[in-house]
Amino acid sequence: MFQQLVPLREDAILGLMAKFRADSSPDKVDLGVGVFRDLSGNTPVLDSVRLAERIVLAAQTTKSYVAPAGRAEFNEAVGELVLGAGHAALTANRVRVVQAPGGCGALRLGAELIKTARPEAIIHVSDPTWGNHAPLLGNCGLELARYPYYDAAAHRLRFAGMLETLERASPGDVVLLHACCHNPTGADLNLGQWRTLTDLLQRRRLLPFLDLAYQGFGEGLEADVAGLRLVTAALPEALVAVSFSKNLGVYRERLGAFIFLGESPPQVDAMRTHVLQIARGIYSMPPDHAAAIAAQIFADAELRTQWITELEEMRRRIAEMRALLATALNRRTHSSEFDFLRDQHGMFSQLGCNESVVARLRERHHIYMLSDSRMNLAGLMPDNVPYVADSIASALNG
Ligand code: LMR
Repeated sequence: MFQQLVPLREDAILGLMAKFRADSSPDKVDLGVGVFRDLSGNTPVLDSVRLAERIVLAAQTTKSYVAPAGRAEFNEAVGELVLGAGHAALTANRVRVVQAPGGCGALRLGAELIKTARPEAIIHVSDPTWGNHAPLLGNCGLELARYPYYDAAAHRLRFAGMLETLERASPGDVVLLHACCHNPTGADLNLGQWRTLTDLLQRRRLLPFLDLAYQGFGEGLEADVAGLRLVTAALPEALVAVSFSKNLGVYRERLGAFIFLGESPPQVDAMRTHVLQIARGIYSMPPDHAAAIAAQIFADAELRTQWITELEEMRRRIAEMRALLATALNRRTHSSEFDFLRDQHGMFSQLGCNESVVARLRERHHIYMLSDSRMNLAGLMPDNVPYVADSIASALNG
């Protein structure tokens, strides 16, 4: 049966991880896969997570199933963390949350729900977007289209182009939006732009599907969801895929949540039955370990404060690396061209160069970034920034 299968090309991000591991150069710098790194290059287990984990393990008496929707107390806390406790849709009981295996699991649940309700809907994704959006959303058979979002060479949003394209989308289509820390560009909409976009979504009757993978990594836990809250407060229906890989640092445990808002309590209850049936047909129930830890952190005032402090430290470290690299590159190029690195948000920015520059950086200087020049700035350390800046300046010159 499987003889006709030919090997596929490896995933761009995972393939780069393998190449980096195989490189024996002592100079190598990993700006590839999107994981946070501390000053020693490690992706740490947060202290708040370790403490909560101990409490969870000490109290655990069974490994029996929790529930198809995951942990109720986790879901409730996530609704408030993302939407804000006073959100009109929460007050009106028009929101349901289902725990998911990572943000990826939540994105797939959303795609399958759309497919169930409206198979002809087109999902409009930003150009560029995270490489895994296309398979996660498109592999269930939905059509994907792209709206202009960012000009990497000019380091600028293409907001007018985005609006123009979305004006032509059909009512009932879906618009995938990065709630903050856009992957791969780091270029986010400002609040005024979120407002304009909200008007368009409302007027054109488009469904927003918000991907929230980096809450707390941009400007802070609240600021990072300001746009998301605007959109979800204004529209009758919305979907949100949440990931806790980064802000809780629980990557391999696969913790996420799928939030959906509908017009009425009976409508969201009906949606929930479909979401649970979809989940049952893919993975049955989500893993519990990180959800139990997260629920412990969210419920315990001391642990929560500790987590927020740790999150703030991670955010600050990335912002510092952004500023250092911007200054170093501006100095080497006698320009202010790299100011954008300081201004953008989250772990990623695109250098804005072509693939041959990216290849030179990898082959000559052992610096790894994605072929679209996406860099994970959390891979920088104060002492490798001069080397990275020298290498980039040299590679840009040919
Ligand atoms: C990334 O964008 O590098 C991360 O989200 C990791 C992944 O799975 O692609």
